[in-house]
Amino acid sequence: MSTRWLRVADVAAVPRDGVVPVDLDGRPAILYRAGDRWFCAQRRCPHADFDLAEGFVSRGYLVCPLHLWRFAVDTGIHELSPGVCLAMYAVRIEGQDVWVDPTPRRNCTPFDQYAQLEADLEDTRVGKAVPGSEPDPADPDLDPAPGPDPDPARDPDPEGRNRP
Ligand code: FES
Repeated sequence: MSTRWLRVADVAAVPRDGVVPVDLDGRPAILYRAGDRWFCAQRRCPHADFDLAEGFVSRGYLVCPLHLWRFAVDTGIHELSPGVCLAMYAVRIEGQDVWVDPTPRRNCTPFDQYAQLEADLEDTRVGKAVPGSEPDPADPDLDPAPGPDPDPARDPDPEGRNRP
C-alpha cells in the first residue's frame, strides 16, 4: 500500500453530490461527494470509456450519463453486476485539503464482465432480485420516495396542445 498521498483539491472545489476531475500523477480520476462522504475513482467508464467527470451522484450511486450504468458510491461496484467495478482510491480530508492515495483498489474480481452483466440483466428481466443491487434504505443519501400526485384530477394538458 502506498504511503504517498497527493493533495488533489480544496474542499470548497467539490459541491455536495458533485463530481470533479482530478489528476493522480498523470492518472485521470474523479473526486466526488455523496452528501458529506468523499470518494475517488477511475475517470473512464468501464462500459464504453465515457468520461465519468460528467457523471452525477444519485441515491447512493455514481451514475454514468451515457448509458446510465450505476456504481455504488463507496465500492464502485456496478449495481447489477458485482463483477464490474471501478478502481477506487482512498480519500482523506485535512482542514480544507483533499488528499488521495494513488494506489488503486478494486472491490471486485473482474472476469467476463459483459457475460456477467447480461446474465444479471436477464435475471432482472424475469423478475429475480440480484443480490446486493438494492440501495440501502437507511442510506442518508437516498432521496425520499416520491409521494402520490397531489392532485390526480389535474389536467396534464390544460392548453389542449396534444389533443386531436
Ligand atoms: S459509457 Fe458509461 S454507461 Fe456506457
